[in-house]
Parts: sequence; structure tokens; C-alpha cells
Amino acid sequence: MNIIWNKSSEQFHLYNDRISYIIGVAPCGELSNLYFGKRIHDRDDFTYVMFRMGMPNIVVDADTESYSMELNRQEYPSFGTTDFGTQAFEVETSNGSRISSFVYKDHRIYKGKHGITGLPATYAEDDEAMTLEVDLEDEVAKMSITLFYTVFEDYPVIARHASFTNTGSERAKITKALSGCLDLPDPDYEWIQFSGAWARERIPKVRKLSDGITSIESKRGVSSANQNPFVIVKRPNTDEFTGEAIGFSFVYSGNFIAMAEGNSYKRLRILMGINPDRFSWPLDAGQTFETPEVVIAMTDRGLNDLSRTYHRLYNNNLIRGKWKNEPRPILNNNWEATFMNFTEEDILKIAAKAKEAGVELFVLDDGWFGDRNDDYAGLGDWKENPEKLPQGMAGLSRKINAMGLKFGFWIEPEMVNPDSNLYRRHPDWVLSVPGRKSSLGRHQLVLDFSREEVVDHIYGMLHKVISSSSISYIKWDMNRSLTEVYSLEAAAEDQGTIYHRYVLGVYRLYSKLIEAFPDILFESCSSGGNRFDAGMLYFAPQAWCSDNTDAIDRIRIQYGSSYGYPIVSIGAHVSAVPNQQTGRTVSISTRANVAYFGTFGYELDLNKLPEEDFLEVKKQIEFMKKYRRLIQFGDFYRLRSPFETDQCAWMTVSPDRKQAIVGMYCLRSNVNTLPGFLKLAGLDENTLYRMEGREYYGDELMNMGITLDLFYKNGFTVSEDYSSFVAVIEAV
Ligand code: GLA
Repeated sequence: MNIIWNKSSEQFHLYNDRISYIIGVAPCGELSNLYFGKRIHDRDDFTYVMFRMGMPNIVVDADTESYSMELNRQEYPSFGTTDFGTQAFEVETSNGSRISSFVYKDHRIYKGKHGITGLPATYAEDDEAMTLEVDLEDEVAKMSITLFYTVFEDYPVIARHASFTNTGSERAKITKALSGCLDLPDPDYEWIQFSGAWARERIPKVRKLSDGITSIESKRGVSSANQNPFVIVKRPNTDEFTGEAIGFSFVYSGNFIAMAEGNSYKRLRILMGINPDRFSWPLDAGQTFETPEVVIAMTDRGLNDLSRTYHRLYNNNLIRGKWKNEPRPILNNNWEATFMNFTEEDILKIAAKAKEAGVELFVLDDGWFGDRNDDYAGLGDWKENPEKLPQGMAGLSRKINAMGLKFGFWIEPEMVNPDSNLYRRHPDWVLSVPGRKSSLGRHQLVLDFSREEVVDHIYGMLHKVISSSSISYIKWDMNRSLTEVYSLEAAAEDQGTIYHRYVLGVYRLYSKLIEAFPDILFESCSSGGNRFDAGMLYFAPQAWCSDNTDAIDRIRIQYGSSYGYPIVSIGAHVSAVPNQQTGRTVSISTRANVAYFGTFGYELDLNKLPEEDFLEVKKQIEFMKKYRRLIQFGDFYRLRSPFETDQCAWMTVSPDRKQAIVGMYCLRSNVNTLPGFLKLAGLDENTLYRMEGREYYGDELMNMGITLDLFYKNGFTVSEDYSSFVAVIEAV
């Protein structure tokens, strides 16, 4: 990896073994993107890729040799001069002008990578990455922008963000500050977004890009289940194993926009950042605003390779602390077993059976605090309900520990029920507009986390419960979208900052809790997977993927999630049948065969299982304990898509390619058909492997594929809905 500055041509070349990213100072002084793609040789000058022809209609600048921004690729496009596309940022000066031209001023190149104040970001040691900071200045607007680019040694990735500093003496306002822009020289791409809603999160949707705008966004205050802040642009012929694709992953958990815009001159612009709608940030003299980070990854080897890049980068350079690269404890959560209706005795019974099965961690879900017996009351009162927990969390956690289980519990710290002591005492602590009714979501209001005192107060209550007990895990939930986003404390001109300050408040509470309790494993949750994003993974290394625990629906949800997020981050549990969300009945073995490909656990009362199922659960837990490192941290391959076929297959391979596990699932039976062959991937061609008592060479498994009679013998049959099979492959 290296970053070269060619002084005479004023060009930067960032590269590693796989990629090159080339930026030049254009004749107008702004930065132009000259190339992003497979690694190419360095040259003194790549100016020849800039277009200089003038055409009717196109504004050109006589002083700059007919350079029109519209014809060229911009690095961080402004609006108001000769680019008519969507701008990456907008600054409004005190005289009302929103026109800007930020020109190259200076730069710095250094080893490693700095953090972003108050925000999550990828991190790197000095030998893992190099960073370029380029300063741009607009002398009229009296503002400077610094663009940050990090190139990693081991990944085909560029991480980007920007910061704005008011260098003048008067207040200015930023009305748009996206994190990055990538202009590509041709528009022949398809766009993949990951869309859905509650209980059907992250379903890939593909569309062809063309002239004009394709865009997804969130204005819910969370990144959302509706649109995930991760998109891929790929060549039309790119598939899982071949072809070019570029991913854009936003390391942020609030409102966002991701956009592709084809202009009339074959330029395709991709933008990602905080949603400019409802955003404005006043900047006084000397003040700085920093954007979140966007992680841009590139492949010429298909979508599986792109996903593995994100899996590795996020496991090694985003997730932090004790649980980084650590296999996750197998847990039992009581939510679907009891909902809020439980006594300590009920909980101890469920936990005892979990221990007997081999579970390692017991999680007490919603309902343990305040007057929380249904979802109308109690949120905000983070104090044990003595009727349910007579000796408090301290007593329960010690009893569970004494059984040989670790213990954790559920919180929803950003919320308050109107029927709570917290709300009665501090009605002004919620987001609400004076004189207007506040919309409820699940009978709750949203606390104004833009206010430090609110975050500090919640921290105080939680600190007390956690420090008095023995806590190894916390499930941090967030169960509604933000509405009436207005802070009763903030001035009129600061109201445009509140969505972002709210997210900063959430990150601040996470940071404080992690600092006080560094060993706790956090699992983020938001009505299931409503806030499953790279920003959250920096704080909580795993996320409850969906409230839909139906194994068949989960195949699709987990398959979709695997495009942008590591397998070890995907919260997946076995739950009871008929399934609470879908009414579907699926065998205990298929339920586990799906949940293995995630964090793994149980979301039911094991006492209620038939004896034969319980015996199988014991075996499942043994299996997962033996193979969880391989499954959670191996190289993951999607083999057969549940969106294109009635089957699904995926596999994971150890880094030394000596071990692999393949999962195969039948979503819907097809009578009197043959399922064909399943070609495996990622193995060593010349190694002899053993699978279910038979031996095969790697090249055989990958090129000829396995005949599915192997699966038939083990209970997988295409003529039976919801059958599945998981097989271990080991080098002989
Ligand atoms: C949300 C979560 C569930 C559960 C409930 C508790 O819906 O997604 O897993 O914790 O809240 O109220």
C-alpha cells in the first residue's frame, strides 16, 4: 500500500495490491477523480483522462483551457459553477449565497488512520493503512474542507469522510455534508439495495442504472429496516463469483441518503451521507463539523468476494474490544417464551433447562423494570420491579451465575412511556414540538438524546443496575422511528442539527457504558433489524437481525444481511413452533441449521420441547461449540440464492482451507424434479476432503459439485418443504 503525490501534475495515487484510486487537481482548482478500479502502474501524469472539449450548452471557463466540471469526474462536487449534477455538500454564507468553489490548498500523508470525533469509524495500525488528508479552501465563503482518504494494506477498500471548518469571522451554515462521492466514467451498472420492513429486513433488490437519479434514504432517525445504508453497484454480468462491483457502506446509524445519478455524458455519480433533508448545521467562526465515514470496497471477483472484504474489514478494523474476533456465547433469551409475564421462579426454571442443554448465557428480555407488565408503561424507569425480581438484578444474576451460566439483560434506553416516573418528572425531555401532539410508537415517546443531561441521567440509572449485578451481556433495543423531531432546549436555528445530535447522543451513551464495562457483550436491536448498520457494529459487535424467527424467512433475511455484514454479527436464534410471526412449523433441525450461520442461541423455553427435540438441542449446542469459530469467522460463500430458486445453499471455509461447513435448505418442494448439483467454493483444488464418509478432491467438489443424493440420505429432500442439511468437510 502507498500514497504517491506527483507534485508536477498535482495528482495523488492511492494504491495497494488490488486497487488504485487516483485524484488530480483540475484546471479549475477543484479535485477531480481520475480513476478508481483494479491496481494500475503509477505514472507522473494522468491528466489525459480529463475531457476538455466545449460543446454547445456546456459552460466552460476560458481561463482554464475549456475545462467543464460537468464533463469530468469530481471528487467532492459543489454546485453553482460548471457542474450541474447533484452536489456532495452545500454551504450557505451569511449573505445568503450557496455557491462555492473549494480549491486545492494543501495536503498531508501519514501512516495509520485517525478516529472521527464522537463517531464510529474503521481504525488501523500504522502498518495496516495510510491516510491522505487534502485541504480545500473557498476564499469567498471563508470556509475550508478537508477530505480524508484511507487505503488499507489488506483490503480493496477506500474509507472516506470530510470535515468543514469556518475560517471566517461570521456564522455560516452547512445545509448538506455527504461523506463521499464516487464519479464513474460509464453508467453501465446495476444497483443493489437492501430493503424491507419489520420482520422482512435486508432483501436485495436490483435495478438497472441509467440517466437520472436512483436513490434510497431514511428519514426515520434510524438507519432503518426499510432501506439499509449499504448499496452495491455492479456490472450487469457480475455474479457471486465473477465480475466487477463496488460497495458503499455507511458507518452511521441515523438518517442517510444513497444515490446514483447518471448524467448526459456517461458520468455515473454515487453519493452517500447524512440525509440532507431536515439537516442544517450552523458553524460559527473557527468551528468544525465532521461527517461520518463511508467505506467503499471494490472487487473484480464477484459479489462473494466483495462481501468477504466487508466481513474481514469489519471483524478486524471496526468491531472493537473483548469480543473482537471472539466466538460468541450460545444464549437463551426468554422473550418469546414469556414475553413480559414472568416471575423470578419462571426465569430460573428456563435458565436451569438451558444450562442442562449446554447454553452458556441467559438473557432476561423486556419486562424486569418499573411498572413494565405490558408495553404501555415503565420505559425510562431503569429500576428493578421488586414483584418480579425480589432480590433485584443483583440477586437474579447471582442465582443464574451459580448455575454456571453467564447473565445479561434487555434495555431500551432511548425511550420513555408517558406512563412512567421519568416522564412525569421530566415531560420536556422528549422530542416534541411546542403546541403539537406527539405521535406515539408502541405507546412510547423518544427521549431527546441531543441533550447531554438526558443521556447522563439514563447512564446513571443503568450504571447503578449493571454495577450492582454480574452482567456479561446487554441487548440494547430501540423500538420506534423518530417523529416530531424538535428539541425543546435548542434554539430555532439549531433545530436542523437535532437528528444528527440524537445519533451522537446514542453513540455517547454507548461509549460511556463501554468505558465503564468494557467486557460486556452488547447486542444492538431495533424492533429486530431496524438499525443494523456498520455504525452500530463499532459499539455492539452483534445485532438482532430480525424479530422474524421463522427459519424459512430467516434464510432470506440472513442471506441478504450477509452481503454487507459479517456472519458473526448476525443475531440468530432457534424459536418455538408454530412460529410466533408466521405460524409455520419447521423441524428443530432446520431451525438450528439456519441459526448456526449467525451468533446462535435459543428464543424459547426448552422445558416445553418434546424429549427427542431436547436431546437434539443438546447435540446442536455441542456442534456449535465445536464449529462456531469456523462458522462465525470463516470465509463465507453464498452458493444458491433463495431469491432465485426454491433452495438456498451457503458455506464457510477456514482460512487454511482445511475445514468447511455447507448448509443446504429446501424452501419449497418441487415434485418430480432433480435439484442438480451443488458446486462448492473456496476449497483447495488439490486437497482430498472427507464429507459424510466419502472422499473427494477439492477440484471435484468445486467444479463437478456434489450430487444431491448425499443430501437425500441425510434427510434433505426436494420433495419435502423446509428440509435442510448441514455437512462438515474436512481435509483428509
Ligand atoms: C423488540 C425486540 C424483541 C424484544 C421486544 C421486547 O420487539 O426486537 O426482540 O426484545 O422488543 O419488548
